[in-house]
Amino acid sequence: DASDIEKGTYPHYMLKEIDEQPLVTRKIIQKYQDENGSLTIDSNIISAVNDADRIYIVAAGTSYHAGLLGKQFIESWTKIPVEVHVASEFSYNMPILSANPLFIFITQSGETADSRAVLVQVKELGYKALTITNVQGSTLSREADYTLLLHAGPEIAVASTKAYTAQLSVLAILAAVAGQGKGLNLEFDLVKELGIVANAMEVLCDQKEEMEAIAREYLSTTRNCFFIGRTVDYYVGLEGALKLKEISYIQAEGFAGGELKHGTIALIENGTPIIALATQEHVNLSIRGNVKEVVARGANPCIITMKGLEEEDDRFVLPPVHEALSPLVSVIPLQLISYYAALHRGCDVDKPRNLAKSVTVE
Ligand code: G6P
Repeated sequence: DASDIEKGTYPHYMLKEIDEQPLVTRKIIQKYQDENGSLTIDSNIISAVNDADRIYIVAAGTSYHAGLLGKQFIESWTKIPVEVHVASEFSYNMPILSANPLFIFITQSGETADSRAVLVQVKELGYKALTITNVQGSTLSREADYTLLLHAGPEIAVASTKAYTAQLSVLAILAAVAGQGKGLNLEFDLVKELGIVANAMEVLCDQKEEMEAIAREYLSTTRNCFFIGRTVDYYVGLEGALKLKEISYIQAEGFAGGELKHGTIALIENGTPIIALATQEHVNLSIRGNVKEVVARGANPCIITMKGLEEEDDRFVLPPVHEALSPLVSVIPLQLISYYAALHRGCDVDKPRNLAKSVTVE
């Protein structure tokens, strides 16, 4: 639909696509519901998941970051072990595979050459593959045994936003339905909780002025910026750092809170911005301890937390969602902060230098 890919009143596709995330989340819930409102996925796909003794997720870029969180969902909710691999590494350095592996390719475009190379390799070995993609009929969709669609609508901006949260929603649904197939029922209602996520996304998309202020305060002149977090917050931090470097050219890295002292802390100088995510209760004290360590070395901390965990000096409080789903909302301020940082620094938000939307060469 051509009207889908017009910017309308938006100055950039990226901002439009960030704003579409509540809608896309609701659309995914609807697309993966049966007539009784229960979540449903093609039973062949669920059998393929539950027959596997190990799942190998293969992806690149932002889709790889979604894969890291997919592992959390699948391992927690199905108890099947999952490995997540960068496609370009996997093809040249294949790990020892289990007896009954299932491969899951996560790819917005369905055309990434690095991921396709792995798909070709594993098909040659006779293994089954599922592609999770935004593009029906794309190469990786056609060549895999199964496909799950993201239903995110065309994503035009080079920096991926709505495809990432769509990947998280679809991975969560896949994990929940597969778990259910094994008699492992979630102790919460995923449909309801994803609905709460969509509402929280909307609240966040209405707080652009606040995000612009954070970008101005922390990122308008800095040379670098670090993202820290523990467990799922660490993975979201990796994606936050990727967004920031892609479009603002600020040198940005994501680190696990506990790993800081093993090297990265040497980079902290007076005023170095540190964006810390603190959305998980069981690591809240530890991540806040890490923030104190960097503040003692002069860092300028921006703590993003979740309602219920907030403390006095926190910079931004996310609306409450189920803890397991927090990445779907905590990434939105990071996307918006990157957007405004790029804008303030005069960068071409939708078409950053040296990058392509989909990389079809190895
Ligand atoms: C390119 C894009 C990234 C994207 C990656 C993987 O490098 O610039 O934004 O995450 O490819 O793309 P895919 O379509 O496979 O998800």
